[in-house]
Amino acid sequence: MKKLLVANWKTNPLTTKEAVKLAKAEDHKGVVIAPPHVFLESASKTLKKAKLASQDAFWGDLGAYTGEISWRQLKEFGVEYVILGHSERRNPPVGGGETDELINKKLLSALEGGLNIILCVGEPKEIREKGIETAKNYVQNQLEKDLKGAENLKLKTENLIIAYEPIWAIGTGTPDTPESAAEMSIFIKSLLTTNYSLQTKVLYGGSVNGRNSSGFLSHPEIDGALVGGASLNPEEFNKLI
Ligand code: 13P
Repeated sequence: MKKLLVANWKTNPLTTKEAVKLAKAEDHKGVVIAPPHVFLESASKTLKKAKLASQDAFWGDLGAYTGEISWRQLKEFGVEYVILGHSERRNPPVGGGETDELINKKLLSALEGGLNIILCVGEPKEIREKGIETAKNYVQNQLEKDLKGAENLKLKTENLIIAYEPIWAIGTGTPDTPESAAEMSIFIKSLLTTNYSLQTKVLYGGSVNGRNSSGFLSHPEIDGALVGGASLNPEEFNKLI
């Protein structure tokens, strides 16, 4: 499988001018860029090779959902991927604490709407401290709830990507080791093959940068990276590319 790099800009940068500059610098094949919603239109006009992702998508189509952006509206901007279940949305205060049930509803709507999903899962520190097997159980529970009903859809490999992002590794400068990220990736892939007959890409995310990326990306079981902080620095991100 080809490696995939997903740049999650989170709530950055501040201006359209900066967003366009960043998009130009990261416009490569095999890259998916997830800018804030306010920059989707300018990013979509700028990108020639990279694909566009949204950092979230509401389950409703059109209607009285104040403040939400629906998967159908996102398609207007050429968005092909939607990140769902990011730990920053699962855990308050960002996103108000999304439940697995809400994530599942969003996931099924966006899949039925023809978007590809990058579903984030990952355990908190206190779970990982109990060992990798406890972390696997935690991730399995997230996947089973978030993907409930997806077995009834005719999914292709590109429709569903899983991003393993241990919460304790996000934005901390302390990534997981490539070996244990790969162990989790193998576990996730086997679950998805058994339950959904799907060959899925599994990305690793959490403090990936230009110095440590090759350890993850050269691993055959890790299909790419979901990158936060380092994706805001074109020089750093280009090292990953
Ligand atoms: P960092 O790369 O800043 O740790 O963020 C990872 C992440 O949350 C990507 O979605």
